[in-house]
Amino acid sequence: MCGIVGYAGPRRAVPVLLEGLKRLEYRGYDSAGIAIGDEGRLAVVKRVGKIAVLRNAVPKELPGSWGIGHTRWATHGGVTEANAHPHLDSSGKVAVVHNGIIENYRALRNMLEREGVCFASETDSEVIPHLVARYYEGDLEQAVKAALSHLEGTYGIAVVHADEPGRIIGARNGSPLVVGVGSGEMFLASDVTAMIAHTKQVVYLSDGEVVAIDPSGFRTTDRDDRPVAKKVDEVAWELGSIEKGDFACYMEKEIFEQPESVARALGGRLESAEATAKLGGLNLDRRQLRQVGRVRVIAAGTSWHAGLVGAQLLESMARIPASAELASELRYRNPVVEKDSLWFAVSQSGETADTLYALREIQRKGGTVLGICNVVGSTIARESDGGIYVHSGPEIAVASTKAFTSQLAAFYLFTLLMARMRDLSHAEGAHFSAALAGVPGKIAETLRCRDLVQALAKKYARSENFLFLGRGLMYPIALEGALKLKEISYAHAEGCAAGEIKHGPIALVAPEVPSIFLVPDDELREKTISNMREIKARGGPVIAVGVEGDAEVAAIADDFVPTPRMDPRFYPFTMVVPLQLFAYFVALELGRDIDQPRNLAKSVTVE
Ligand code: M6R
Repeated sequence: MCGIVGYAGPRRAVPVLLEGLKRLEYRGYDSAGIAIGDEGRLAVVKRVGKIAVLRNAVPKELPGSWGIGHTRWATHGGVTEANAHPHLDSSGKVAVVHNGIIENYRALRNMLEREGVCFASETDSEVIPHLVARYYEGDLEQAVKAALSHLEGTYGIAVVHADEPGRIIGARNGSPLVVGVGSGEMFLASDVTAMIAHTKQVVYLSDGEVVAIDPSGFRTTDRDDRPVAKKVDEVAWELGSIEKGDFACYMEKEIFEQPESVARALGGRLESAEATAKLGGLNLDRRQLRQVGRVRVIAAGTSWHAGLVGAQLLESMARIPASAELASELRYRNPVVEKDSLWFAVSQSGETADTLYALREIQRKGGTVLGICNVVGSTIARESDGGIYVHSGPEIAVASTKAFTSQLAAFYLFTLLMARMRDLSHAEGAHFSAALAGVPGKIAETLRCRDLVQALAKKYARSENFLFLGRGLMYPIALEGALKLKEISYAHAEGCAAGEIKHGPIALVAPEVPSIFLVPDDELREKTISNMREIKARGGPVIAVGVEGDAEVAAIADDFVPTPRMDPRFYPFTMVVPLQLFAYFVALELGRDIDQPRNLAKSVTVE
């Protein structure tokens, strides 16, 4: 949530910052602003709305070759120009952009007000520039360090002072910050996407670290001024992977990338000779893996749905008791951390506060937590005890699609590995492994339903309520279909276990409420068909996502979306695709802002 960018170098800073902010817009898009330094003063421009509004407001030739920018997702204080960042001290010489939440800001604000400081906003962030000014004696880095000693909570900050040309001080505690190393120029951002057009050489800051950059380089220290040596990493992906190409929006692009992204997640990890999987990053040897008595998954949103699939699969195939839980719930209920449990924290961004704090709580109690993350170098990836990168490539749309199927791939690989150490035979392992290797091709076949799903979306787009129903592995897929639809179309959608509808949700069934059923040809097919008939008998329209050639299901449903026939354990990969497309086309039909839906942001770094 919220994006930070900073630049110091020989170029005009305005275009660099605006371009960086545009690339960060997916992280928050309520309001935005920049502070540009030039000849002993800071020019600050802020606007409510998206980056395009800010761009129009910035004077075309605004000079200055260093500065900071921010795109906001409001937490403390409404969406107003005054609350937009950067925030200034009373003299207008110190400017700060901040991601995170300062928990003790009330007390700090009271203290500063007693000292005569007047505040211009309702935000928690504004205490920072005033504190920096309070300590400033000609050295911005030292003043920032003194200010940090007062702060409780989370922050990623970038700070400039009008009297220190070309200098930007960054600090991190719980909110990501990355330094970009250019040639004669330096960048600072909350996310590498903001700087990838200029440099692929990056330095990921850790919590408690402070960085001072100027065009000639950077220096990292801890808050007590002790030097910290940092390694420069190379970003592994190209600028093209964060551009829309020929697609209308990122969500559509990311849905259609899934054959390749899942292939990347599987790449080099299937060992056909041994009919097992190879997962180098787990940091657990065979003996430790064999001792795992229980697997527990923590995550939020779409990542939780992937965890629900993973837990079912692990239990049924590897015969390990497994469950998936919402991280936001687990953290505060003092969970029992059994000695033989292996935990997974699943997160596309690797920055989700709920998941991160739950991870820390489990580790504090002695648990081993593996990460399943997409963003390399993210906090969850770094703080976990090992893990699996899913290699989806950057996911920009707020609605997660390709990360979900890649997270599934990670769970399927892990299940194969664990099952082969237990009861699964070589022949069964080889069959599973071949089917898994075939998944990217099956997703590509499924994507051919695009036009059919678009027509269905046109037919049903005006419905205000939807039910998504499935059993077994299809229950989490029903939850995911409902989440996708509500996130980007704003229609009310509920995902239910199909067997549960008679316990309540069936009361919602009416001619104007479509029910979307997931009907694979698995052992639960007959039961699911009975549930479809129950809905039909009560006048509810039924859309069935089923298996090609299933004439019975096609005949019962009002509309039928066929997907390729496959080993039933793998339908989560394919049957989610028509649901992603359905959400996308309904939102398109309703004219929604698909990549940046209202009230949401890509990575949720607040609780
Ligand atoms: O980055 P994470 O996977 O940890 O994010 C978790 C959820 O915030 C995320 O999946 C959210 O539900 C998406 N917007 C779903 O499309």
